[in-house]
Amino acid sequence: MAPRHLMSPLDFSVEEMEKLLDLASDIEKNPDKYSHVCDGKRIATLFYEPSTRTRLSFEAAMMNLGGKVLGFHSSDSSSATKGESVSDTIRIVSCYADICAMRHPKEGAPLVASMKSSIPVINAGDGGHQHPTQTLTDMMTIRSLKGRLGNLKIGLCGDLKFGRTVHSLISSLSRYEGVSFVLISPEELRVPSYVRESLAAKKIPFEEVVKLDESTMSGLDVLYMTRVQKERFFNEADYVRMKDFYILDREKMELAPKDMIVLHPLPRVNEIAVEVDDDPRACYFRQVQYGVYARMALILTLLGMEDATNE
Ligand code: NCD
Repeated sequence: MAPRHLMSPLDFSVEEMEKLLDLASDIEKNPDKYSHVCDGKRIATLFYEPSTRTRLSFEAAMMNLGGKVLGFHSSDSSSATKGESVSDTIRIVSCYADICAMRHPKEGAPLVASMKSSIPVINAGDGGHQHPTQTLTDMMTIRSLKGRLGNLKIGLCGDLKFGRTVHSLISSLSRYEGVSFVLISPEELRVPSYVRESLAAKKIPFEEVVKLDESTMSGLDVLYMTRVQKERFFNEADYVRMKDFYILDREKMELAPKDMIVLHPLPRVNEIAVEVDDDPRACYFRQVQYGVYARMALILTLLGMEDATNE
Protein backbone atom coordinates (compact mmCIF):
# COMPACT_ATOMS: atom_id res chain seq x y z
CA MET A 1 0.00 0.00 0.00
CA ALA A 2 1.25 3.51 -0.82
CA PRO A 3 2.29 5.38 2.33
CA ARG A 4 0.33 8.40 3.48
CA HIS A 5 2.31 11.65 3.69
CA LEU A 6 1.66 15.06 5.24
CA MET A 7 2.63 18.02 3.07
CA SER A 8 -0.08 20.55 3.97
CA PRO A 9 -2.64 20.65 6.79
CA LEU A 10 -5.31 20.34 4.11
CA ASP A 11 -4.12 16.79 3.41
CA PHE A 12 -6.40 15.90 6.32
CA SER A 13 -10.12 16.44 5.97
CA VAL A 14 -11.83 18.36 8.78
CA GLU A 15 -13.09 15.02 10.17
CA GLU A 16 -9.62 13.48 10.03
CA MET A 17 -8.18 16.56 11.72
CA GLU A 18 -10.77 16.30 14.53
CA LYS A 19 -9.94 12.63 14.95
CA LEU A 20 -6.23 13.38 15.13
CA LEU A 21 -6.77 16.14 17.69
CA ASP A 22 -8.99 13.82 19.75
CA LEU A 23 -6.20 11.25 19.70
CA ALA A 24 -3.67 13.91 20.73
CA SER A 25 -5.92 14.92 23.66
CA ASP A 26 -6.26 11.29 24.72
CA ILE A 27 -2.47 10.93 24.62
CA GLU A 28 -2.20 14.06 26.79
CA LYS A 29 -4.57 12.56 29.36
CA ASN A 30 -3.30 8.97 29.26
CA PRO A 31 0.34 8.97 28.16
CA ASP A 32 1.01 5.56 29.71
CA LYS A 33 -1.51 3.94 27.38
CA TYR A 34 0.72 4.80 24.44
CA SER A 35 4.21 4.37 25.88
CA HIS A 36 5.03 1.16 23.97
CA VAL A 37 2.82 1.27 20.90
CA CYS A 38 5.78 2.10 18.64
CA ASP A 39 8.25 -0.37 20.16
CA GLY A 40 10.60 -1.37 17.34
CA LYS A 41 9.58 1.56 15.09
CA ARG A 42 11.95 4.30 13.97
CA ILE A 43 11.55 7.87 12.85
CA ALA A 44 14.19 9.56 10.71
CA THR A 45 14.48 13.32 11.16
CA LEU A 46 16.12 14.80 8.05
CA PHE A 47 16.72 18.47 8.78
CA TYR A 48 18.45 20.50 6.08
CA GLU A 49 17.61 23.69 8.01
CA PRO A 50 18.05 24.61 11.70
CA SER A 51 15.40 23.60 14.21
CA THR A 52 15.03 23.19 17.94
CA ARG A 53 11.37 22.48 18.65
CA THR A 54 10.25 20.70 15.54
CA ARG A 55 13.09 18.19 15.38
CA LEU A 56 13.30 17.56 19.10
CA SER A 57 9.54 17.30 19.46
CA PHE A 58 9.39 14.68 16.69
CA GLU A 59 12.16 12.77 18.42
CA ALA A 60 10.53 13.13 21.84
CA ALA A 61 7.19 12.09 20.31
CA MET A 62 8.63 8.87 18.88
CA MET A 63 10.49 8.10 22.12
CA ASN A 64 7.31 8.67 24.14
CA LEU A 65 5.68 6.03 21.94
CA GLY A 66 8.50 3.57 22.64
CA GLY A 67 10.22 4.02 19.27
CA LYS A 68 13.70 5.10 18.24
CA VAL A 69 15.14 8.00 16.27
CA LEU A 70 17.88 8.56 13.71
CA GLY A 71 18.71 11.40 11.36
CA PHE A 72 20.77 14.50 10.74
CA HIS A 73 20.29 18.08 11.84
CA SER A 74 22.03 20.03 9.09
CA SER A 75 22.70 19.53 5.42
CA ASP A 76 26.43 19.89 6.20
CA SER A 77 26.37 16.59 8.05
CA SER A 78 24.55 14.69 5.28
CA SER A 79 25.45 13.62 1.74
CA ALA A 80 23.61 16.71 0.49
CA THR A 81 27.05 18.37 0.62
CA LYS A 82 28.24 15.74 -1.88
CA GLY A 83 25.33 16.58 -4.17
CA GLU A 84 22.85 13.82 -3.28
CA SER A 85 19.25 14.66 -4.20
CA VAL A 86 16.39 14.44 -1.68
CA SER A 87 14.83 11.78 -3.94
CA ASP A 88 17.88 9.55 -3.53
CA THR A 89 18.24 10.33 0.17
CA ILE A 90 14.67 9.29 0.93
CA ARG A 91 15.10 6.00 -0.92
CA ILE A 92 18.06 5.28 1.35
CA VAL A 93 16.28 6.39 4.49
CA SER A 94 13.25 4.24 3.59
CA CYS A 95 15.54 1.24 4.24
CA TYR A 96 16.40 2.46 7.74
CA ALA A 97 13.22 3.94 9.17
CA ASP A 98 9.41 3.52 9.24
CA ILE A 99 8.53 7.22 8.95
CA CYS A 100 10.40 10.42 8.24
CA ALA A 101 10.12 14.13 9.04
CA MET A 102 11.92 16.42 6.61
CA ARG A 103 12.70 20.13 6.84
CA HIS A 104 14.23 21.84 3.83
CA PRO A 105 14.91 25.44 2.77
CA LYS A 106 13.46 24.74 -0.70
CA GLU A 107 9.70 24.90 -1.08
CA GLY A 108 8.37 21.56 -2.28
CA ALA A 109 11.47 19.50 -1.36
CA PRO A 110 9.55 17.20 1.04
CA LEU A 111 6.92 16.73 -1.69
CA VAL A 112 9.60 15.66 -4.16
CA ALA A 113 10.95 13.24 -1.54
CA SER A 114 7.48 11.81 -0.86
CA MET A 115 7.11 10.83 -4.51
CA LYS A 116 10.01 8.38 -4.22
CA SER A 117 9.40 7.27 -0.65
CA SER A 118 8.10 3.94 0.54
CA ILE A 119 7.58 5.35 4.07
CA PRO A 120 5.37 8.28 5.19
CA VAL A 121 7.09 11.65 4.75
CA ILE A 122 6.09 14.58 6.95
CA ASN A 123 6.81 18.11 5.81
CA ALA A 124 8.51 19.66 8.84
CA GLY A 125 8.75 23.04 7.11
CA ASP A 126 9.63 23.79 3.47
CA GLY A 127 11.11 27.23 2.89
CA GLY A 128 8.55 30.01 3.30
CA HIS A 129 5.74 27.72 2.18
CA GLN A 130 4.06 25.41 4.72
CA HIS A 131 4.58 23.99 8.20
CA PRO A 132 1.69 21.57 8.75
CA THR A 133 2.89 20.06 12.03
CA GLN A 134 3.16 23.50 13.63
CA THR A 135 -0.44 23.92 12.52
CA LEU A 136 -1.47 20.69 14.24
CA THR A 137 0.24 22.07 17.34
CA ASP A 138 -1.54 25.42 16.98
CA MET A 139 -4.92 23.80 16.36
CA MET A 140 -4.56 21.58 19.41
CA THR A 141 -3.49 24.56 21.53
CA ILE A 142 -6.41 26.72 20.36
CA ARG A 143 -8.94 23.91 20.76
CA SER A 144 -7.64 23.05 24.24
CA LEU A 145 -7.42 26.62 25.53
CA LYS A 146 -10.40 28.24 23.78
CA GLY A 147 -12.56 25.12 23.60
CA ARG A 148 -13.34 25.45 19.88
CA LEU A 149 -11.90 25.98 16.41
CA GLY A 150 -14.86 27.83 14.90
CA ASN A 151 -16.26 31.26 15.79
CA LEU A 152 -12.88 32.76 16.46
CA LYS A 153 -11.29 36.06 15.58
CA ILE A 154 -7.60 35.42 15.01
CA GLY A 155 -4.93 38.10 14.72
CA LEU A 156 -1.69 37.12 13.02
CA CYS A 157 1.15 39.56 13.46
CA GLY A 158 4.66 39.94 12.06
CA ASP A 159 6.22 38.39 8.99
CA LEU A 160 3.14 37.11 7.20
CA LYS A 161 4.98 36.91 3.89
CA PHE A 162 7.72 34.42 4.72
CA GLY A 163 6.16 32.91 7.87
CA ARG A 164 5.20 29.40 6.78
CA THR A 165 3.40 28.69 10.05
CA VAL A 166 1.03 31.55 9.22
CA HIS A 167 0.20 30.20 5.76
CA SER A 168 -0.58 26.74 7.09
CA LEU A 169 -2.61 28.00 10.04
CA ILE A 170 -4.76 30.32 7.92
CA SER A 171 -5.57 27.56 5.43
CA SER A 172 -6.44 25.13 8.18
CA LEU A 173 -8.63 27.49 10.25
CA SER A 174 -10.37 28.72 7.09
CA ARG A 175 -12.36 25.50 7.02
CA TYR A 176 -14.21 26.31 10.26
CA GLU A 177 -17.43 28.30 10.55
CA GLY A 178 -17.35 31.82 11.89
CA VAL A 179 -13.59 32.35 11.66
CA SER A 180 -12.22 35.78 10.77
CA PHE A 181 -8.67 37.09 10.51
CA VAL A 182 -6.87 40.31 11.30
CA LEU A 183 -3.59 40.26 9.37
CA ILE A 184 -1.12 42.62 11.04
CA SER A 185 2.10 43.26 9.15
CA PRO A 186 4.27 45.93 7.58
CA GLU A 187 3.34 46.59 3.96
CA GLU A 188 6.41 44.67 2.72
CA LEU A 189 5.55 41.57 4.76
CA ARG A 190 1.87 41.10 3.88
CA VAL A 191 0.59 37.57 3.29
CA PRO A 192 1.35 36.22 -0.21
CA SER A 193 -1.36 36.98 -2.74
CA TYR A 194 -2.38 33.31 -3.00
CA VAL A 195 -3.36 33.37 0.69
CA ARG A 196 -5.31 36.62 0.30
CA GLU A 197 -7.06 35.37 -2.83
CA SER A 198 -8.02 32.10 -1.22
CA LEU A 199 -9.59 33.93 1.75
CA ALA A 200 -11.50 36.21 -0.60
CA ALA A 201 -12.68 33.28 -2.74
CA LYS A 202 -14.03 31.51 0.35
CA LYS A 203 -15.65 34.76 1.54
CA ILE A 204 -13.81 34.59 4.85
CA PRO A 205 -13.76 37.97 6.57
CA PHE A 206 -10.26 39.41 6.95
CA GLU A 207 -8.63 42.77 7.26
CA GLU A 208 -5.03 43.80 6.70
CA VAL A 209 -3.60 46.40 9.05
CA VAL A 210 -0.17 47.74 9.88
CA LYS A 211 -0.52 48.80 13.50
CA LEU A 212 -0.72 46.52 16.51
CA ASP A 213 -2.82 48.72 18.76
CA GLU A 214 -5.96 48.67 20.89
CA SER A 215 -8.37 48.83 17.98
CA THR A 216 -6.53 46.06 16.09
CA MET A 217 -6.60 43.79 19.11
CA SER A 218 -10.20 44.53 20.00
CA GLY A 219 -12.33 41.37 19.99
CA LEU A 220 -9.39 39.05 19.23
CA ASP A 221 -9.62 35.54 20.67
CA VAL A 222 -6.08 34.66 19.63
CA LEU A 223 -3.06 36.81 18.81
CA TYR A 224 -0.48 34.75 16.90
CA MET A 225 2.87 36.54 16.94
CA THR A 226 5.70 35.61 14.57
CA ARG A 227 9.32 36.62 14.14
CA VAL A 228 10.68 38.31 11.05
CA GLN A 229 12.20 35.45 9.03
CA LYS A 230 15.76 36.72 8.74
CA GLU A 231 16.98 33.75 6.67
CA ARG A 232 14.49 34.45 3.86
CA PHE A 233 15.54 38.07 3.26
CA PHE A 234 17.72 38.85 0.27
CA ASN A 235 18.98 42.01 1.84
CA GLU A 236 20.31 42.46 5.40
CA ALA A 237 19.29 46.16 5.47
CA ASP A 238 15.64 45.24 4.85
CA TYR A 239 15.74 42.73 7.68
CA VAL A 240 17.27 45.26 10.08
CA ARG A 241 14.58 47.78 9.15
CA MET A 242 11.78 45.27 9.83
CA LYS A 243 13.02 43.19 12.70
CA ASP A 244 11.68 45.28 15.58
CA PHE A 245 8.56 46.52 13.82
CA TYR A 246 6.34 44.89 16.46
CA ILE A 247 7.09 44.44 20.10
CA LEU A 248 4.29 43.08 22.25
CA ASP A 249 5.03 44.34 25.74
CA ARG A 250 3.18 44.67 29.04
CA GLU A 251 1.79 48.07 28.09
CA LYS A 252 0.26 46.69 24.87
CA MET A 253 -1.12 43.68 26.72
CA GLU A 254 -3.06 46.07 28.95
CA LEU A 255 -4.99 47.15 25.85
CA ALA A 256 -5.72 43.58 24.76
CA PRO A 257 -8.90 41.61 25.56
CA LYS A 258 -8.79 39.85 28.93
CA ASP A 259 -9.51 36.47 27.36
CA MET A 260 -7.20 36.77 24.35
CA ILE A 261 -4.46 34.15 24.25
CA VAL A 262 -1.05 34.94 22.81
CA LEU A 263 0.60 32.21 20.74
CA HIS A 264 3.94 32.10 18.92
CA PRO A 265 5.49 29.18 17.02
CA LEU A 266 8.86 30.22 18.52
CA PRO A 267 11.73 31.00 18.37
CA ARG A 268 10.94 34.46 19.70
CA VAL A 269 13.43 37.21 18.98
CA ASN A 270 12.22 40.66 20.11
CA GLU A 271 8.57 40.58 19.08
CA ILE A 272 7.32 39.55 22.51
CA ALA A 273 9.01 41.22 25.48
CA VAL A 274 10.10 38.75 28.14
CA GLU A 275 7.96 40.65 30.68
CA VAL A 276 4.85 39.29 28.88
CA ASP A 277 5.79 35.70 29.76
CA ASP A 278 4.20 36.02 33.22
CA ASP A 279 0.88 37.22 31.81
CA PRO A 280 -1.66 34.37 32.11
CA ARG A 281 -2.67 35.04 28.49
CA ALA A 282 0.86 34.19 27.26
CA CYS A 283 0.45 30.59 26.12
CA TYR A 284 3.44 30.05 23.80
CA PHE A 285 5.31 27.77 26.17
CA ARG A 286 2.23 25.63 26.75
CA GLN A 287 1.92 25.47 22.95
CA VAL A 288 5.31 23.70 22.83
CA GLN A 289 4.00 20.88 25.03
CA TYR A 290 0.91 20.46 22.86
CA GLY A 291 3.29 20.05 19.92
CA VAL A 292 4.59 16.78 21.32
CA TYR A 293 1.09 15.29 21.73
CA ALA A 294 0.06 16.45 18.27
CA ARG A 295 3.16 14.86 16.71
CA MET A 296 2.61 11.62 18.64
CA ALA A 297 -0.92 11.50 17.24
CA LEU A 298 0.39 12.26 13.75
CA ILE A 299 3.01 9.50 13.85
CA LEU A 300 0.35 6.98 14.91
CA THR A 301 -2.07 8.19 12.25
CA LEU A 302 0.42 8.04 9.37
CA LEU A 303 1.62 4.62 10.48
CA GLY A 304 -2.02 3.45 10.46
CA MET A 305 -1.80 2.78 14.21
CA GLU A 306 -4.29 5.34 15.46
CA ASP A 307 -6.24 2.68 17.33
CA ALA A 308 -3.19 1.07 18.94
CA THR A 309 -2.72 1.24 22.71
CA ASN A 310 -0.66 -0.81 25.14
CA GLU A 311 -3.79 -2.57 26.35
C1 NCD B 1 8.85 28.08 12.95
C2 NCD B 1 9.43 27.64 11.62
O1 NCD B 1 10.42 26.91 11.59
O2 NCD B 1 8.83 28.02 10.62
N1 NCD B 1 9.48 27.46 14.04
C3 NCD B 1 9.01 26.28 14.48
O3 NCD B 1 9.03 25.29 13.80
N2 NCD B 1 8.42 26.26 15.68
C4 NCD B 1 8.78 29.54 13.11
C5 NCD B 1 10.04 30.33 12.94
O4 NCD B 1 11.12 29.78 12.69
O5 NCD B 1 9.94 31.54 13.06
